[in-house]
Amino acid sequence: MTKLTEFSRKYEEFKSRNLTLNLVRGKPGSDQIQLSNNLDGVLEGNYISIDGTDTRNYGGLRGTPEARELGAALLGIPSERVIAGGNSSLHLMYMALELLAHRGLVGPPLLRNSNASAICPVPGYDRHFSMTEYLGFKMLNVPMDASGPDMDAVETRVQNDINTSLLWCVPRHSNPTGYTYSDETVARIAALPNLRRGQPDNPFYVLWDNAYAVHDFKEPAPKLANLDELAAAQGTEDRIVQFASTSKITFAGAGVGFISSSSTLLADFEGHLGMRTVGFDKVNQLRQARFLQNGKGLNAHMKKQGAIIGPKFEVAQFVLAKELGNLDPQIASWTEPTGGYFISLDVPNGNAKRVVEVAKEAGLALTPAGATFPYGRDPNDANIRIAPTFASVDEVQIAMELLTTCVRLVHAST
Ligand SMILES: Cc1ncc(COP(=O)(O)O)c(C=O)c1O
Repeated sequence: MTKLTEFSRKYEEFKSRNLTLNLVRGKPGSDQIQLSNNLDGVLEGNYISIDGTDTRNYGGLRGTPEARELGAALLGIPSERVIAGGNSSLHLMYMALELLAHRGLVGPPLLRNSNASAICPVPGYDRHFSMTEYLGFKMLNVPMDASGPDMDAVETRVQNDINTSLLWCVPRHSNPTGYTYSDETVARIAALPNLRRGQPDNPFYVLWDNAYAVHDFKEPAPKLANLDELAAAQGTEDRIVQFASTSKITFAGAGVGFISSSSTLLADFEGHLGMRTVGFDKVNQLRQARFLQNGKGLNAHMKKQGAIIGPKFEVAQFVLAKELGNLDPQIASWTEPTGGYFISLDVPNGNAKRVVEVAKEAGLALTPAGATFPYGRDPNDANIRIAPTFASVDEVQIAMELLTTCVRLVHAST
């Protein structure tokens, strides 16, 4: 039997099962969400924050002290330089990027130059890219490896191209590779804005989305260098904006987002916030902070979460290794994260779109091929993002068996 016949048969078997499987978005599973059900009722009628604020009332643009402490624990930054926001860090990123674009934050508006561009490490987070494009920036791909973005390429861009205005980063358990930036990479990123020293009209910013700061499911947990401390040593803190949230810790889309930067930039940001809102939802901030003991409860909570997520990644890795490992020649490669929400799979160039299509025809929904690249265009048509957290362990296993069958089928038919 030829390989094509073998995998066609296997594929038709999957198809005949009328499956409905989904490895699209990095949503927590219901088993994981349930770990935070005690958010409901945790306040026990006590709405008063430690500074005496009644959280049921208006005011307090920077958020409650407890929530800011929680944000500080996530980001590794003193709470005085953390603003606790609303339900989504992405919303804060959008606000910051929009301000950088049109109004400026401790600097001139970046989009007064219509060629302003953002450096986007690839593969990366689709929503960073769509937001950046939507707001009018051009985007430049820079490859990622296990130590982070290719810093030689990044530095060359920043140094030689005045239009280059910012760098997106997901520094820990990155989306979708799961990579964590090395100490050297973080140190070089902290120094990047200095490559524009003496050019106040052309500042360079780093947007540091630490979405997976505490999201480990397997040892060893990688240690991320503290960008804030390194930036202070370099004098670049006015050019670095950091984000985190509890969306993927407690309730997805119903957590608290955080933004941090230098005191100067935060004050500038707050000035804008005051034009936009009287304050975020402090009751939810208090609820999240009490539930996670102002950050002291993060470790224990994330261990429980890791125990639920870990087996889903384990089975995904098992199937990948069993079905696609040890092939000669090797036709696929994939990352093996110890945390975060994703696995990045590379199939032979030109095959990714087709694999996603045939998987869909057999009942498996995957993130569209190309989504992990700016403009939805993967120049090699090779990368597929796998998000195993939402499905059950059994579903992940079937989904991965189907996916690997599709990879082999498409390869055999080209
Ligand atoms: C890198 C990254 N940042 C931000 C988010 C969204 O965070 P939030 O729910 O706080 O807006 C996600 C969700 O997938 C993500 O992967």
